Amino acid sequence: MAKEAKQAKHGLPLGIDVGGSGIKGAPVDLSTGAFAAKRMRIDTPMPSTPEAVAAVINQIVDHFEDVRGDSPIGVTIPGVVTHGMVRSAANIDKSWLDFDAEPMLEEVLGHDIVLVNDADAAGVAELYYGAAKGQKGLVVLTTLGTGIGTALIYDGVLIPNSELGHLEIDGFDAESRAASSIKDKEGLSYPVWAERLQRYYSHLEALLWPDLIVVGGGVSKDAEKFLPLLKLKTPIVPATLENKAGIIGAAHLAAHK
Ligand code: BGC
Repeated sequence: MAKEAKQAKHGLPLGIDVGGSGIKGAPVDLSTGAFAAKRMRIDTPMPSTPEAVAAVINQIVDHFEDVRGDSPIGVTIPGVVTHGMVRSAANIDKSWLDFDAEPMLEEVLGHDIVLVNDADAAGVAELYYGAAKGQKGLVVLTTLGTGIGTALIYDGVLIPNSELGHLEIDGFDAESRAASSIKDKEGLSYPVWAERLQRYYSHLEALLWPDLIVVGGGVSKDAEKFLPLLKLKTPIVPATLENKAGIIGAAHLAAHK
């Protein structure tokens, strides 16, 4: 029986989410979006250089060898990724900047990977399995965390690297005013922070006219404390996959490359 269960899991795509404090991975059942095994988490090494992060990713891949087989691996990074190269490093070690990360990770792991922006992965996960499931038209996912990440998806097609957390609003980089880390750092109450979010989301709405805005990031679990304070024309809903979205989206994107 146990053997059968193991064989059934064989060959599931693995998603790995590289964040500021932890690197997390799990095999994902793409028919449901559920983790097919308990998630593994390892603290992000400091400094979080590409080499140090690659060694942790390797450990996670090894850990899931029996469930993963030779199936696809998707890895997220909190920066712009074009053609496997990391092009921005707002909230990660600056040594990732213009680093050709995909080939290096493939060499360390001895396996092809797909490297994607963390918010793009989360957006894809919410579209297929979460708060934006089946949504047509333009979905904008925003992740409120250390920075603000964004994903644009139109009729199911991801337009990668949208980086709308860096819109300049009132002379400020938007994430430096409205990210949830800023709320914590400046000790802002939810109503005061919501004023900043109002400014941010109104601006986003006026530029893009989305059909749905999804709000992710750890703080989305307290969505009832700030989303009802926002006045927008667009429906705005909390993400539902919590901190699993990056892993699920990375696995999905790797499997559909
Ligand atoms: C980065 C994005 C990232 C977001 C969330 C921003 O500072 O520029 O690439 O998606 O943070 O991690």
